[in-house]
Amino acid sequence: MKRALFITFEGGEGTGKSTQTALLADRLRESGHQVVETREPGGSPDADAIRQLLVSGETGRWSVTAEILLNYAARESHLHQTIVPALENGAIVICDRFADSTRAYQGYAGDGDHNLIEQLDRKIVGHVQPNLTLVFDLDPGIGLERAGLRGGDDRFERKGLDFHNRLRDGYLAVAGKFSDRCSIIDASGSVDMVAASVWQAVVPHLGDTG
Ligand code: TMP
Repeated sequence: MKRALFITFEGGEGTGKSTQTALLADRLRESGHQVVETREPGGSPDADAIRQLLVSGETGRWSVTAEILLNYAARESHLHQTIVPALENGAIVICDRFADSTRAYQGYAGDGDHNLIEQLDRKIVGHVQPNLTLVFDLDPGIGLERAGLRGGDDRFERKGLDFHNRLRDGYLAVAGKFSDRCSIIDASGSVDMVAASVWQAVVPHLGDTG
């Protein structure tokens, strides 16, 4: 009996989660699962258009409140156009960033309004919460260096080490608050080591899927 599964990958810059989403998707497909890979901000044509607004331009282009609203506007489109249809189809949805990115980046690191975020989350995400969230944890100094090596240069990567230290603490707070669905992944190891930790966290959820 197929059972849809919604897995999100979260973490700061350069933590390797994009590499790991692709590895997990391959492994699940090899085991016969139907997998839909997606990412935020983006994941639908309208959400991709909003992504362009968010990741380009000056660091101070948007207020933190505007960032919260833009991310949830993109998320609503992404949910309706991509995530919910895939889940209804019985797929495993693997999403590189989701609502916890807003909690960590805008809420904790950006000192944004947590109540606004939770209100929007109830309204827009509602019951379509992830079954499993993998929070990639890494020293931000290492992460930013990796991201720099990768050539990443978006608005968020340029915000500085203080912001990224608050971000890491924010993610750990999110993982504590939503401990029923969050699993912290030590992202400091090799690609193979991290992939093994990811698999270990995912396997118990595969129970009666596909
Ligand atoms: P990416 O580098 O993982 O593609 O994500 C783009 C940037 O957007 C990244 O720096 C994190 C940021 N972001 C937020 O600030 N809030 C959000 O809700 C999401 C989904 C991403």
